[in-house]
Amino acid sequence: MERTLHHVFLGVTGASGAAYALRLAQALTGDGLRLSLSLTDAGVLVVAHELELARGSRGEVTRRFVELIGADVAVHEPGDLAAPPSSGSSGPDAVVVCPCSMSSAAHIALGTSRHLVHRAADVALKERRPLVLVPRETPLSSIHLRRLLEASEAGAAIVPAMPAFYHRPATLQEAVDHVVGKVLTTLGLEQALFPPWDGG
Ligand SMILES: Cc1cc2nc3c(=O)[nH]c(=O)nc-3n(C[C@H](O)[C@H](O)[C@H](O)COP(=O)(O)O)c2cc1C
Repeated sequence: MERTLHHVFLGVTGASGAAYALRLAQALTGDGLRLSLSLTDAGVLVVAHELELARGSRGEVTRRFVELIGADVAVHEPGDLAAPPSSGSSGPDAVVVCPCSMSSAAHIALGTSRHLVHRAADVALKERRPLVLVPRETPLSSIHLRRLLEASEAGAAIVPAMPAFYHRPATLQEAVDHVVGKVLTTLGLEQALFPPWDGG
């Protein structure tokens, strides 16, 4: 379905896969979209570790993450429940939680918002706006699977961080790009991060 998106909120939670979040943020801003961003406390830990940003304060890690994105981004503290993404009247056109921890997937499915990322997702569901969750965990327990099903039934698109190999990625970045390309097409955006399947 074609949609017109201008403003996307990206919630980065404490699941492995900071490279997905970085590439997605670069792709969205590169497409000229306005981006709002919030890293949870666990998200800050994982981003610092996986992107090899020196461990530092939340502010320092976030600043270095935004530098890597290389674009203007509105950053919100996860505890700031008064921030615009919390509101149905001033929120973004779409919300992506990437990567999405099982903890956050459960909170979103149950509607028990504990921080801004959960609340922005909750608002997207109630306002019938696109919500994409990019879960990363393995193996998945029945609890994880139930919560993801509930989120899907409530209207979220579940795009697991499961890169494909039919396009024969030669680098880790190309595998990352496959997942990010899938997020973009789920949002109704064009993607050029991986070639479409041409029948082999
Ligand atoms: C290095 C590291 C990697 C983690 N990887 C995952 C993961 O892949 N999936 C997951 O669901 N939780 C993972 N966790 C656990 C979450 O960070 C934890 O459940 C946290 O409470 C999530 O909170 P948040 O959703 O508010 O960010 C990881 C934690 C650390 C420190």
